[in-house]
Amino acid sequence: MSYGARLAETMSRRLGRECVYTPSARLALYLALRRWCAPGARVLMSPVNDDVILFVVLAAGLRPVQAPVSVWDGNIDPAAIPESTWRNVDAVLTTNLYGIPDRVVELRRRCDELGIPLFEDAAHAIGTRVDGQPIGTFGKAAAFSLSKHAASTAGGFLAVENAGARRELETLRDELLAPRRLRDDLTATLRPLARSTVRTLHLVRPVWRTLQRLGLLERDAYRMPLHRPRLSARGLEPPSLDAYEPWVRVDLHGFRSRHGALVRAQLELRMAALDTNLTKRSAGVAHLSETPWASPVLRDRMPVGDAPLPLFRAPLLVRDRDTLITRLIRHGVVTGYVYDPPLDDYAGPEFVEPSPSPEAARWFASHVLPGDPLLAQKLTKALTSEQTTPALPTPTPAPTQS
Ligand SMILES: Cc1ncc(COP(=O)(O)O)c(C=O)c1O
Repeated sequence: MSYGARLAETMSRRLGRECVYTPSARLALYLALRRWCAPGARVLMSPVNDDVILFVVLAAGLRPVQAPVSVWDGNIDPAAIPESTWRNVDAVLTTNLYGIPDRVVELRRRCDELGIPLFEDAAHAIGTRVDGQPIGTFGKAAAFSLSKHAASTAGGFLAVENAGARRELETLRDELLAPRRLRDDLTATLRPLARSTVRTLHLVRPVWRTLQRLGLLERDAYRMPLHRPRLSARGLEPPSLDAYEPWVRVDLHGFRSRHGALVRAQLELRMAALDTNLTKRSAGVAHLSETPWASPVLRDRMPVGDAPLPLFRAPLLVRDRDTLITRLIRHGVVTGYVYDPPLDDYAGPEFVEPSPSPEAARWFASHVLPGDPLLAQKLTKALTSEQTTPALPTPTPAPTQS
C-alpha cells in the first residue's frame, strides 16, 4: 500500500479522481509542475495568491506570468488576457481564491485549444463546484490542502486524471519526502488542538499578541521578506525544492515531512468531519452574503437555486482594510490569508512577469477582508460596531465582468 493510501482513497471517492496524498498542497503543486512543465516554461497565474506558491513555481524552474484578474474576486479574468500573453504561456494555474471558483470552463477551453496544461490550486476550494462539477476535476492536476477547511496543520492531495499518472506521481513524491521527524509530527498533531483551545477559551487576542511579541510569527507583513540577493542566486542553480526551501516552507515547516501514523489517523478523523464543516461554512456564507460589505461574487458566482458554496473565506470589500484588521483583533477576530501587494508588485520583474493591467489586482488585494464563514455572526457584529464602510472600485465595472 502506498504512503497515505487510505486518505487518498477517501479524497478520491469525494472527488471522482485519482488522488496522491501529500503532506501539503504546496508539495502537491510542485509535483504537478515538475511532472508536466519543462524548466523555463511560463505559467500564467493570478498575482493575488499566497507568496509561497510563487516560490513553488520558481523552485520548479518556471517563470510566473501574472494575469489580469477580476476586481471582485482576484481570480484570473480570461476576457482581459491579451492574445499576445496567450501565445506566450505554456501552462495556466488557477487560484480559486477563498473558494470562489475560477472561470475554469473558459480557461480549460482555451488551454485545450493551445494544447497546454491547466493546473488547479484548489487549496481553498475543497467543496466548490461549477455547474455541479467539483473544482479540482477540470484540469490536468489539482492541489488540495487539509490545513484550510479541515483545520489541520498538515496534509494535502494531488488529484490527477488517471491511475498511471497517480502511480508516477507517487514515485516522484516518495523521492521528495523528507524523513519523518517526531518534532514535525508533534507540531502537526498538537497545533490544531492548541488553536481550537485558544478559540474556545476566547484567548485569541492575548495569544496572538504574545506570538507576535516573541517573534514566533514568520511574517510581520502580509508578504514574507523576499531576501532578493539570495533569491537571485538560487535562480542560477538547477530547479529544486532544496534550493528554495527557506521560502517554500514558510508557515508550514513540515510541508514535505513523511508524517507518521498518528498524524494520518488524525487527518482521517478530520476528513470524516469535513461535510459537517462544509455545511457550517455554507450557512456562514449565506449570512455574510447579506451584509453591506459582501463582494458581488457572493451573489453572482453562487449555484443558482442551491445552498451557497462552502467557502474557505468570504470576500468582503471594505475601506481602510488594514486599520480594520488591527481593530478586529480586539473583537477576537484574527484575519489571515491577505495577499497584498500583488505578486508582481511584491517580487518585481526579475522574478515574475508583470501583469499587463495590474490595477484590478491592486484594488482587490488592498480592499478585501477575507471573512471566515465559521465566525460569520461574530464578524458581522464586530464590523457593525466598527462602523465599517463598504468599498467599491472606481470606475465600477459592469456586473458581467464579475
Ligand atoms: C491559495 C493557496 N494555495 C496553496 C496553499 C498551500 O497550502 P499548504 O499550506 O497545504 O501547502 C495556500 C496556503 O495557504 C494557499 O493559500
